[in-house]
Amino acid sequence: MTAKTTAIIFGASSALSQELARQLANEGVRLGLISPDLDSLGDLTQQLPDDTLLQAVNINDIDDIAAAIDSLWQQLGGAHLVLVNTGLNAYHPSLPWQIDQDVIDVNVVGFAKACHLAFERLREQSYGQLAAINSVSGVRGGPAMAFHASKAFASNYLEGLRMHAQRLKLGITVSDVQLGQFDKFAQQGRTFWLSPLPVVAKQILAGLKKGKQKFHVTKRWWLVSTMFKLLPGYIYNTRRWKKKDKNKDKA
Ligand SMILES: NC(=O)c1ccc[n+]([C@@H]2O[C@H](COP(=O)([O-])OP(=O)(O)OC[C@H]3O[C@@H](n4cnc5c(N)ncnc54)[C@H](OP(=O)(O)O)[C@@H]3O)[C@@H](O)[C@H]2O)c1
Repeated sequence: MTAKTTAIIFGASSALSQELARQLANEGVRLGLISPDLDSLGDLTQQLPDDTLLQAVNINDIDDIAAAIDSLWQQLGGAHLVLVNTGLNAYHPSLPWQIDQDVIDVNVVGFAKACHLAFERLREQSYGQLAAINSVSGVRGGPAMAFHASKAFASNYLEGLRMHAQRLKLGITVSDVQLGQFDKFAQQGRTFWLSPLPVVAKQILAGLKKGKQKFHVTKRWWLVSTMFKLLPGYIYNTRRWKKKDKNKDKA
């Protein structure tokens, strides 16, 4: 009997993770889902096969991450895909340190720990894919300083792991999904270039199956990302402040 394809998803409570989980399950992939709050997965688990595994982890607790990965790894018999989709984004015009601290804890420390441990397990089994849902926001700084910086960190961290996979001649793919905004924000009154969740998830899985190392979802965000990089500071900065001024009272 051929072993079933398996995937572990960090950040399973996010709407995007849930859509990815549904699409993977439809393709017959057995899932291990990780979330700090398993109760929030109630509706999702009803839609997934009975052999889906759940593991509670707060990514701030780095010791917990190792235990969670090991437990799922053992029960699934290894993982073909580990997808890290955790993230925190916050902004307040008074720039309290606590926001930066929280974002760094989740997006940098927790993220790195999850990727590092997953890479270690993949290295031991000598196959598989590590993928992270990252953001085009990492190409430049922004008003949510720690958030933008954390996304640049994520890209560079993944690139480093990819270099080690190549150096060690491991059959491991490391994928950096450069996500633009999707229809989650439509409810907040933004309409620019947003794609529905199923389309976003489908493009992510298509890119991962092709073994792409770094790719944009949806594809047109490559253009935005390139434009961000090329814009001179005096235009880029003005654009950012205008946007934040508009939301100032809501923050
Ligand atoms: N939404 C967008 O339009 C967009 C655009 C570009 C890039 N991205 C990137 O995509 C990723 C996911 O974004 P999203 O919009 O799906 O965000 P989201 O809905 O807020 O999901 C973030 C996930 O991270 C988990 N998480 C947060 N803090 C955690 C902690 N301490 N321990 C464990 N898990 C924790 C959340 O779990 P809980 O819900 O249980 O806290 C949730 O499952 C992020 O890296 C984000 O930067 C999103």
